[in-house]
Amino acid sequence: MSKRVFNFSPGPAALSEIVLKRAAEEMLDFQGTGMSVMEISHRSDIFREVMSETEDLFRELLGISDDYAVLFLQGGGTLQFSMVPMNLMTGSGKADYIVSGMWAKKAFEEAGKFGDAKQVASSQSEGFTYIPKINAEDVRSDADYLYIAWNNTIYGTQYKAVPQSGGVPLVADMSSCIFSEKINVDDFALIFACAQKMFGPAGLTAVIVRKGLLGKAGADTPVYLDYKTHYDGDSLYNTPPTYCIYIAWLTLKHLKEIGGVEVVQEMTERRASRLYSFIDESSLFTIPAAREDRSSMNALFVTGDESLDRKFIAQAASEGLVNLGGHRSTGGMRASMYNWLPDEAVDKLIDFMYRFEKDNKVK
Ligand SMILES: Cc1ncc(COP(=O)(O)O)c(C=O)c1O
Repeated sequence: MSKRVFNFSPGPAALSEIVLKRAAEEMLDFQGTGMSVMEISHRSDIFREVMSETEDLFRELLGISDDYAVLFLQGGGTLQFSMVPMNLMTGSGKADYIVSGMWAKKAFEEAGKFGDAKQVASSQSEGFTYIPKINAEDVRSDADYLYIAWNNTIYGTQYKAVPQSGGVPLVADMSSCIFSEKINVDDFALIFACAQKMFGPAGLTAVIVRKGLLGKAGADTPVYLDYKTHYDGDSLYNTPPTYCIYIAWLTLKHLKEIGGVEVVQEMTERRASRLYSFIDESSLFTIPAAREDRSSMNALFVTGDESLDRKFIAQAASEGLVNLGGHRSTGGMRASMYNWLPDEAVDKLIDFMYRFEKDNKVK
């Protein structure tokens, strides 16, 4: 008998057990083909059906209109740090970035290779503990886009409202929050998300882009890095990551079955607030992130004593609560609570924290 742990990994993260079991059941014979889904042609009718249903689920669950293309790409979130400027920073050649964490910073630095990238706000000097607030006047009115990272996986902060961009198209990295909250896609020119936190295995990245922005890449853009190539080819310009798309399909079907984004939003916000309330009451643990910007996906907390933090992480793991270590740049603890982490995991974590605090009270 295999034993599952409570996996608080920031990514690749826990997937739905129902989905994993279904994938295991049809591993050797996908829908009567006598082959696994990994062994069939990406151009077969049966796989095309999986792809088009996955796109339909994206559209239905996120409310994406026909004005937007939904692309299934590779290269992780990181390749989007290059593809976004290559495709969109082609009007004035200017783009503005809000640097709220390490991933946004990497995206900003990469954009500088393609044009005039400007950091319009940053919370780096405060250890990225808050979301920098801006006014519309802070954004250059002729910028090709304003870039944000909606949820800062490493620092546990998250946007609660769309920033004022003064009409400048907004680009958002939603890698660690897509499908966890209701969004209005029309507020954005482009949204991207790698799959391995919210909707599948590493290897797939979804890009939701306003169709009017396609076809603007420079003439010397490699064909593979032009969004239009993938739009024109129905994300089948070359062999896509078929197994990842299949798991995304199963995951989104399951998400729809349990009631969709609104239902998981209520669940994930409820349990994040349970954990945060417990920590707020605690005399041992504290939360570095600003209260109003706390993420409901990644909760960071510390004891203030690095050796005690290490003890916490090791002891928690021995009780089956795994991957609670903070990122190497922050230290401390981080509980990532994406859609597919069972509710019970957070109850068990709070119970463990309560006991740990009692046993390790500062004398
Ligand atoms: C918000 C965010 N953006 C981008 C990335 C990078 O994604 P990838 O490792 O798929 O390139 C991550 C990875 O953790 C992330 O959390």
